[in-house]
Amino acid sequence: MPKPFYITTAIDYTNGSPHIGHAYEKLLADVIARYHRLKGEEVYFLTGVDQHGQKVQQSAEKAGVAPQEFVDGITAQFLALWEKLEVKYDIWAATTEPLHKKCVQGMLQRLYDEGQIYKDKQDGYYSIRQEQFLTDKERGPNGDFGPEWGQVEHRTEENYYFRLAQHKDWLLAYLRSHPDCVTPGFRQTELINAVEKPSGDLCISRPKSRLSWGIELPFDPDYVNFVWFDALTNYISFIGYDPTISSFILQPSSFQQKWPALHILGKDILIPAHGIYWPIMLHALGFPDEQMPKFLVHGWWNMGGAKMSKSLGNVVDANPLIDKYGAEALRYYLMADIATGKDSDFSENRLVSRFNAELANSLGNLLHRTLSMTQRYRTGKLSERGTGTIPLFSTYQSEMESSVHAALERVNSYITGWNQEIDVKKPWALAKEESAARELDALLYRLAEGLRIIAILVSPVLPKAAHGIFDQLNWKPELAGKEERFSLAEAEWGILPDGHVVGKPIPLFPRIEAVES
Ligand code: MSP
Repeated sequence: MPKPFYITTAIDYTNGSPHIGHAYEKLLADVIARYHRLKGEEVYFLTGVDQHGQKVQQSAEKAGVAPQEFVDGITAQFLALWEKLEVKYDIWAATTEPLHKKCVQGMLQRLYDEGQIYKDKQDGYYSIRQEQFLTDKERGPNGDFGPEWGQVEHRTEENYYFRLAQHKDWLLAYLRSHPDCVTPGFRQTELINAVEKPSGDLCISRPKSRLSWGIELPFDPDYVNFVWFDALTNYISFIGYDPTISSFILQPSSFQQKWPALHILGKDILIPAHGIYWPIMLHALGFPDEQMPKFLVHGWWNMGGAKMSKSLGNVVDANPLIDKYGAEALRYYLMADIATGKDSDFSENRLVSRFNAELANSLGNLLHRTLSMTQRYRTGKLSERGTGTIPLFSTYQSEMESSVHAALERVNSYITGWNQEIDVKKPWALAKEESAARELDALLYRLAEGLRIIAILVSPVLPKAAHGIFDQLNWKPELAGKEERFSLAEAEWGILPDGHVVGKPIPLFPRIEAVES
């Protein structure tokens, strides 16, 4: 049996509301997951929320509610947004779930028993804002710690450490011999450069006196786990990893069947978290090299070139955009207007202009013209099923695996091509000449068949519009609204039968009137 496709996103912090950056990442994963389902693969798509930590504890205190109540409120906002945006995941990972906590504690206990975790005293400068001890590396050219660290104080603290340094040579050798581990490739180079730099072990705890909203260390109740053993491990805890079993091949088969994953994440959390800590954690837990995950690293949506941040007050909420333009308009914009791996600037005007040019004018118009002409000249009936091709179809397929924007550009070029064919062949003129009847039939067939294929190709990004096209083509009505209606195997020429009768045109993407700015 072929292996299912297991895809994850980063789990979102629950110290604040979701914004379009979070939405972009979940959509990218959703589109890739839908594409794999379109290929007929079994897919497990995991996403969720990162609910522990200092920031949540502080935000909850400020709001005067218990941390769990606080994260439940924010979690509900994420859940509602994914529903509204049609992000269709299979596994929801919320890190306060008892199952997850138990799994994390099991992993920590085993690594502690095996000598991979030890207690040590740290004495040095500590940034209160960034919640971390600082080293000389963090000093600026004048020897001081810069303003980004906020208030810095001297501190002595005992904590637990994970023997990260011990496994760095392994990681370097692994990355050098697996050049396809990180996409885009330049991020893998950055990662290798980072691993080559010397660094110490990883502090994995906080005394409860300082942080209580976390998973208690199973071997010391005065401490909670700090961040990464809680966050990264969601990728395995929620698919049934058994932490008490050290041999990978003895893990439950339901876990082994799904693992390894394709992790989708933003550029800010590749180094060191996903690219260094995570593979080393897995390696220390006994995962063999061939069971290491892969990483697809995306860039960021910015505002006027600047990072979106609560403190700058420039964070863009997805909800009002969906209310104004619809979920599909936002899905399309966020997939089309950024090259995977690169950054992009968010612009509502560009959302509107892309929608109007590429969806309303180009695709919407092709559908409308094709159906109205087929109705007018042939009372909706197709004949002259000819042969045809879809140019560069295999390129579309590889682009859908990682650079969705490029796949959309390709589909747009098909649409433009068919619209041009209408302009050049002038079906309204052909309709006047009896000798051109077969030519007109062949053209109308080709356009309808082209639209059927386009619906399949855009369905991962625009599921609702794809159904709309099939509905209007009067194709597979028995599967209306169901994702199984679309299959990549049927994106080939000549499937609409001779004599098929298409429906009447209904505007698919009503134009958005210009926004005042
Ligand atoms: N909780 C951690 C991840 C733990 S994964 C084991 C975290 N959360 S986050 O909420 O800050 O970010 C979640 C994801 O959203 C990250 O992959 C991050 O890169 C992405 N984005 C956050 N802001 C973004 C933009 N402005 N644009 C695109 N993606 C952005 O990190």
